Amino acid sequence: MSNMRIDKFLSEMNIGSRREIKEYTKAGRITLNNEVVKKSDMKINPETDCICFDGKEVVYAAFEYYMLNKPAGVVSATEDSLHQTVIDLIKDSKRADLFPVGRLDKDTEGLLFITNDGELAHRLLSPTKHVAKTYFARVKGTITNEDVEKFHAGVQFDRELVAKPAELEILSSGDISEVYVTLAEGKFHQVKKMFLALGKEVVFLKRVKMAGIPLDEHLKSGEYRLLTEDELNQLKNPPLWIWRPEIS
Ligand code: URA
Repeated sequence: MSNMRIDKFLSEMNIGSRREIKEYTKAGRITLNNEVVKKSDMKINPETDCICFDGKEVVYAAFEYYMLNKPAGVVSATEDSLHQTVIDLIKDSKRADLFPVGRLDKDTEGLLFITNDGELAHRLLSPTKHVAKTYFARVKGTITNEDVEKFHAGVQFDRELVAKPAELEILSSGDISEVYVTLAEGKFHQVKKMFLALGKEVVFLKRVKMAGIPLDEHLKSGEYRLLTEDELNQLKNPPLWIWRPEIS
């Protein structure tokens, strides 16, 4: 990558807005290969040039990939005038253009990937790719094998929407039942609506796995970390998941 404007580079690297970069340039706070930069539209090569802000090198990162353990009460958006967003939780990012890969409801917790790689996000969310997501859910009332069969067959969960076959694993059944649900779709409120279609209410929902990558159990609620090389490779080549109970 060559010939990028220095103000674009610095704003992408989260140093400030283009207007702020202009001010910093005027104030002599930015250097390019040890020379003070005079114009904020100057062209640079982010991979070979050494750019410093207040004497500290700004290292180029084309893409960043995080795993977040989303807490309840935070919205899956980049900006929100009322609520804290999942992006607000990522404190030390080099990039200013991060976004969540898909959405979890405000009250849903658990695994959420955060990146600025639009192509990867698009591939992971495409309905044709059948990327599996597993949720742990607490549901009011008992869950029966009949419910499991209904999930396998495909639950009609909205007037015109029928879910693709999904896996339902009963962990415990009682006044409040605990289950794992695995599905390859991600329609709005899908898990809650699928249970509602069976007359049951989800009272707690947490995503524990996506694209074969489990939520890191060392991440406390609200904590995050960079993806490992292996996880990133897996995310780029997610296993195809289609639930076929008859052959499983
Ligand atoms: N299904 C839901 O109902 N909510 C989520 O946040 C994710 C899946």
